[in-house]
Amino acid sequence: MAAFNVVDDVSLRAIVAAANRASSPVIIQASVKTAKSIGVGLLTAMFDAAVSDSRVPVALHLDHCPDRRVIEDVVAAGWSSVLFDASNRDLETAIRESREVAELAHAHGIGVESEIENIVGVEDGVGSDVIAHAYSAQQVVEAAQASGIDLIAPQLGTAHGVYHGRPKLLPERAREFRALSDKPIVLHGGTGLTTQEFQAFIEAGVSKINISTELKMTYMKSALASLRRCEQTQEWDPPTLFNEIGGAVETMAVGFFEIFGSAGRA
Ligand code: 13P
Repeated sequence: MAAFNVVDDVSLRAIVAAANRASSPVIIQASVKTAKSIGVGLLTAMFDAAVSDSRVPVALHLDHCPDRRVIEDVVAAGWSSVLFDASNRDLETAIRESREVAELAHAHGIGVESEIENIVGVEDGVGSDVIAHAYSAQQVVEAAQASGIDLIAPQLGTAHGVYHGRPKLLPERAREFRALSDKPIVLHGGTGLTTQEFQAFIEAGVSKINISTELKMTYMKSALASLRRCEQTQEWDPPTLFNEIGGAVETMAVGFFEIFGSAGRA
């Protein structure tokens, strides 16, 4: 299933529209940066309004969050799931804290994605460009069982952001996880992969694929084109800008639903 990091109401509504257009389920996610800049209360209200007449299932997820206070806020607000990012902790601390987060979230019916080995790249200010913690698949699965989390986000050779060379992708590692555990596997760093690369990961058993940078680039390039037109025509109409950005983001998302095979499946 596709999971898109939205940045505001324009991108949020565009993803909901795309999911309905493609009849695909979708996960809307927000970085801690976005959750803090909009505010958890307003973001929750925006989401509730945007999905009120949706014909397809839409979940609201908190992406990479090492800060347990923000997790407590979104759990209280009734989001669908959170990614507790413990990849900056040592293994023992990561397991203990992941268990505490899972107990809190599960008490409210909320799912927990877990990252304990760091996925390379910085996502909205969270993460690192160097591998700090790397474990065997067996160790990651044992940690997931010990902490009781629901989804595993392992290192699969991808990175957040734009790739400057071709990454050494590890679909065979996703397959190894599937053989060791029933817990769904999450692929981070989706921007820049080819259709064949996505399909190799999906065939290997990946369940959730995260897209952030592609949405930001689509959003900003569309805004730039729209503003250039305003400059030429000297007509400065904000709703036209919002509609053009929303249309571009919607088209981008429909493309991913088709590649991932979730179109028509809601
Ligand atoms: P990209 O920014 O590479 O699309 O990665 C998104 C992601 O994994 C968000 O957690």
